[in-house]
Amino acid sequence: MKLFIDTGSVEEVEEIAAWGVLSGATTNPTLLAKAEGDPGDVVRRICELVDGPVSAEVVSDYPRGMVAEGRALAGLDERVVVKVPFSEAGLEATRELSSDGIPVNMTLVFSAAQAILTAAAGATYVSCFMGRLDDISIDSGTVLGEIVDALGPAREAQVLAASLRHPMHAVVAARLGCEVATAPGKVLKAMLVHSLTEAGIARFAEDWQSRPEFGEWLRGLVADGAAAR
Ligand code: E4P
Repeated sequence: MKLFIDTGSVEEVEEIAAWGVLSGATTNPTLLAKAEGDPGDVVRRICELVDGPVSAEVVSDYPRGMVAEGRALAGLDERVVVKVPFSEAGLEATRELSSDGIPVNMTLVFSAAQAILTAAAGATYVSCFMGRLDDISIDSGTVLGEIVDALGPAREAQVLAASLRHPMHAVVAARLGCEVATAPGKVLKAMLVHSLTEAGIARFAEDWQSRPEFGEWLRGLVADGAAAR
């Protein structure tokens, strides 16, 4: 499963892109409204940093407006994917944009029935919001599993798990076979943490330091390697 970052913060992308785990990013109007600076500059910079698909969302609620905004957003950078909210108008706009070769991420999909319509309209990504389903006591894993099953193994639309609130959402999405999960920086950071990892690192450091001559040996090895390059 590919990992995207869900953010409007260039600083956050800079920090986490350095880990080498990001394949793309998603933004939305709420996230961009919190960011400093011109939204176009923010989206372009995120494209450079992740060097992969970056979703930027239309805000019109009628097909013509969605298509016009989608074409304009796609013109920001070749890596932009146009995010379109699920609706009748959104389906119509998705068909037109995707027929023009502009990739669409259909967002706010909350059922397998909506996902079937989304895939049929030619969307590249079907975004199912896990956290918002769980918030209203609908099990997000069940819905996501129904979407994966309904679209089938040879699906052209990729299932994108969104609205992740904790690391287990990413694990559930991966186990269900989603192609992508997009997570906020704080969830990606929470995925790093395990007390046994921290304890293990501390123990290795302590044991190594109990033999100071080993430290000397390793520094010499590094210096020899650097000199040979
Ligand atoms: C996905 O692309 C959305 O931007 C996002 O995951 C929304 O998540 P939220 O429910 O935390 O706002």
